[in-house]
Amino acid sequence: MDWFTIVLEAVEIKEINKEDKRKIRELARCYIEIWRDEPWNEDRKCPTCDEGKNNFGRNFRNTFCPVDGTRLVPYWTIRRVLKDLSKELNKKDATCLIAETTGKRIYRYFDNRALCTKKSGIKKVDKDTIIGFTWGYGIDKEEIFRLTKSVELLDLLENERVAYIDEIGVLNDFRALGIGEELCNSLIWKFNKKRYNSILTRTNPRAEAAISLFKKLGFKDTSIKDPVYNERIYLLKRLE
Ligand SMILES: CC(C)(COP(=O)(O)OP(=O)(O)OC[C@H]1O[C@@H](n2cnc3c(N)ncnc32)[C@H](O)[C@@H]1OP(=O)(O)O)[C@@H](O)C(=O)NCCC(=O)NCCS
Repeated sequence: MDWFTIVLEAVEIKEINKEDKRKIRELARCYIEIWRDEPWNEDRKCPTCDEGKNNFGRNFRNTFCPVDGTRLVPYWTIRRVLKDLSKELNKKDATCLIAETTGKRIYRYFDNRALCTKKSGIKKVDKDTIIGFTWGYGIDKEEIFRLTKSVELLDLLENERVAYIDEIGVLNDFRALGIGEELCNSLIWKFNKKRYNSILTRTNPRAEAAISLFKKLGFKDTSIKDPVYNERIYLLKRLE
């Protein structure tokens, strides 16, 4: 059976300001929730193992590190997310968008547009709750090189204004409703208006939804791997 879901009016994409401490704090809580599963597994970490090899997902049942037996600690803390966020949102042309509930119900429809009589099964949430986010900023040549260590990419982007999408995420219960696409499209639109020529982003090939979303929106695989997190790859979108 084919379904589609009406999220229009139920979710609003808004830009938030780094001075809005209450929303930024709520965003940090949403952030912590989103990275707890595969392929990120940033639920808990071992404080003594190397970064990148020390993270464990929500489904990892043990309390202690399987490598050296150290007690695992939460991977993210609100304080650390706030610190990272404040650094990111102070960068050039930093833009932070959230998807927020309006309090209207999300209806599900048959493809013939007959309203479904059953409840959608989507968790009811209060009004003004952040259920997704994305942010990005402008990056200069030094930053492109610091991130990718790629001389080819530097040559390719010579004389271009380049933006970087740093993060995008939607809470599990609200995925596959078009919200991630709406967030990403809105951010692309903002950078287009600010006269950027290209947008760079990085993700893990095992994050299938993210890869598929970026490719749908015109990002191409650059075949450049991240020098620190080797499994992650860079994708690039040229703007008109
Ligand atoms: C990536 C993510 C933001 C997508 O958000 P979403 O709201 O579920 O995505 P949408 O419903 O807007 O889907 C848009 C497109 O993304 C792709 N997509 C979404 N979910 C997918 C899935 N489970 N499998 C494959 N592709 C998927 C599809 O191309 C889809 O277009 P389609 O509906 O025409 O097929 C979400 O899955 C997420 O938060 N994942 C965890 C965090 C993450 O990995 N972020 C990226 C790190 S940089």
